Amino acid sequence: MQTLPTQNSGFFEIARESSDISFEELSERYLTPEIPVIIEGVGKEWHARECWNEHYLHEKLSQEPSASTASLWYWMNRDSLTEDYTTPDFVNQSLDSPLVFPRTQHLRLWINKKGHVSSWHYDGSLVNVFNVQVKGKKEWVLVSPHTPLDCYPYTSFAIIKGDDDKMLNGKVFTRFVINEGDILYIPPVWFHKVVACDAENINLNWLFTKKETTATSATLKREVERYIINDYLKNHRFKLVRTMLKQFNRYAPGYVKISWRYQELIRTPYSISKTDLVKHIAKEAILLGKTLWHLNKIKAYTKTLSKPRKIQKSLP
Ligand SMILES: [Fe+2]
Repeated sequence: MQTLPTQNSGFFEIARESSDISFEELSERYLTPEIPVIIEGVGKEWHARECWNEHYLHEKLSQEPSASTASLWYWMNRDSLTEDYTTPDFVNQSLDSPLVFPRTQHLRLWINKKGHVSSWHYDGSLVNVFNVQVKGKKEWVLVSPHTPLDCYPYTSFAIIKGDDDKMLNGKVFTRFVINEGDILYIPPVWFHKVVACDAENINLNWLFTKKETTATSATLKREVERYIINDYLKNHRFKLVRTMLKQFNRYAPGYVKISWRYQELIRTPYSISKTDLVKHIAKEAILLGKTLWHLNKIKAYTKTLSKPRKIQKSLP
């Protein structure tokens, strides 16, 4: 099984595989140990590389009742636009595995202009992502969940402390450019920052969450704790606590809401005592001060949190 240089901080070169890799090989080397990899040339022959642009995609998706739009991406079903691309076997096998949670929508579509930045964060709900670069190029920086960045309390958004060199000091990280036709596998809770390099950048993401993981990291533990706290407050024996949580989530801005999309607690080898949990909550609460101090930097994140809505017939 492949291992990561998690003991020593610093840069590591991301693994690369060819498009004929089998699901079994991919699982053993990357999906189970949760190690990022680029699978090269998968979408090289896709018709999508020629016909996709913002106008075409908007037109097509606005006719699909199941598709919706969030502020930065479109949601679509697995059978949407399949005349333009072929879902690789290893993706189908990953999404259909009995070891992953069922979900209604698996696909996100990103359309970004040059210079668009997705700032430091990790994806919620312990999602695994297969990200295809359909058009253009993007530069990625991935930080291992074993050397986590500090986040705003109970969120998956990292506190921006300065330039990338400062953010990456003491971290295990990799940096690379992903080319057209390549698929990047982003394991759960890996921090990332992404910059669109070309005039037109289009990405397709398949998402899934495993029911069980053995890849225990500092960030995974934090996610499990977030779930435990949420579950505790949501089901508290005092109605007042349950109501307060509901009211807080109703009026608080998206980035501080105490709510996570897990349907079930993921099975992990990690457990925590009540005393340690209280200590961790206190540690996160101290970071509230930093949140207020950095309010102007948080604005960049808020755009990513709008609720999906119906796609309008014509582009705004
Ligand atoms: Fe992300």
